[in-house]
Amino acid sequence: MSLLSRRNFISFSLYSSLSALAAATIYPIIRFILPPKIPQAVQNEVVAAKIGELNPNSSKIFKFGPNPGILILTEDGKYKAFSATCTHLDCIVQYQTEMKHIWCACHNGHFDLFGKNLSGPPPAPLEEYTVTLINDEIIVSKKI
Ligand code: FES
Repeated sequence: MSLLSRRNFISFSLYSSLSALAAATIYPIIRFILPPKIPQAVQNEVVAAKIGELNPNSSKIFKFGPNPGILILTEDGKYKAFSATCTHLDCIVQYQTEMKHIWCACHNGHFDLFGKNLSGPPPAPLEEYTVTLINDEIIVSKKI
């Protein structure tokens, strides 16, 4: 084996080893930083509250699967439920008792009690859910 080919062989071995070491070090770090996506179960119905839990002209934020929902008991005693995720930049909306509509504090977005975007930057209405009263529970489900 000539000197040049021995030098090439040693260089190749050294660079190969360093490359393998770098890959073995960097790969776990990347896997830690970017965790695998875990599929979430689809939830179409949830118990949002018990009857009597809300006073008229008030609201409650509830969990609808991984997302927040908002349940509102209007002044005239009707339950309304919507996705509580603002359609602008995903802030959580709230019910404003003085204005009697839904408001997003992030950028002053306003929605009426049908979920329609009234003013501010939200580009689309809130998703409205179906509310059903069964026994003493308020069941919220996605509209089909
Ligand atoms: S996130 Fe709601 S108005 Fe911007």
